Amino acid sequence: MKLILLGAPGAGKGTQANYIKEKFGIPQISTGDMLRAAVKAGTPLGLEAKAIMDAGGLVRDDIIIGLVKERIKEADCANGFLFDGFPRTIPQAEAMREAGVDIDYVVEIAVPDEAIVERMAGRRVHPASGRSYHVKFNPPKVEGKDDVTGEDLIQRADDVEETVKKRLAVYHEQTAVLVGFYGQLAASGDVKAPKYVKVDGVGAVETIRDDI
Ligand code: AP5
Ligand code: ZN
Repeated sequence: MKLILLGAPGAGKGTQANYIKEKFGIPQISTGDMLRAAVKAGTPLGLEAKAIMDAGGLVRDDIIIGLVKERIKEADCANGFLFDGFPRTIPQAEAMREAGVDIDYVVEIAVPDEAIVERMAGRRVHPASGRSYHVKFNPPKVEGKDDVTGEDLIQRADDVEETVKKRLAVYHEQTAVLVGFYGQLAASGDVKAPKYVKVDGVGAVETIRDDI
């Protein structure tokens, strides 16, 4: 099973990915998590990406495409994978088609911009796993601690209101076109085209999980 989770920043991609990867036994490939790990490790990629991410912009397509192409060659991807936050531009989507990566489903999680800022302000993450929580909507069992490891949760550097607004603007400029791109592909009748599923991303986390 090869899946893409499509949605604005804060739509709940990471939250839902957590369930989907368990259910299908496939790895979650979050380009955001990969970049944050590179920033933390201080690699050349991390040094280049940090300023862009903190400003809410997108890292260059060629860098991201190279990262993902390497990642999907790994053994744990043999039975498929779940893309979270990738592709986010038409060139990224085209690169996967050109590489012969046949996606089974594109799942769009639709959430209006108005709901996003509050979600981001209350988000707390476990950096090592990428698991995310919300102080009000999806609290951890113990305040400030990851449910699985008990380690500390942190706030992401790009979750300040100003940067969230920039990320939303970039989403509408560069990523929202993928809704049409995959929608048309699904409607084209091409047997290899991914099926397109749109779910309402407003509501209880478990309801959205069941819808997906
Ligand atoms: P990335 O890490 O991908 O961030 P994003 O797309 O902005 O998405 P988020 O992780 O912010 O949101 P999410 O949809 O995963 O929501 P979550 O489940 O956490 O990318 C970060 C940066 O890296 C980018 O800005 C860019 O610079 C760079 N980058 C990454 N990929 C790239 C690419 N392909 N190309 C170029 N650059 C790239 O949920 C959010 C909050 O809401 C949480 O607190 C959660 O608990 C809560 N929540 C979840 N569901 C619900 C619900 N139903 N009701 C209420 N609250 C909820
Ligand atoms: Zn995420």
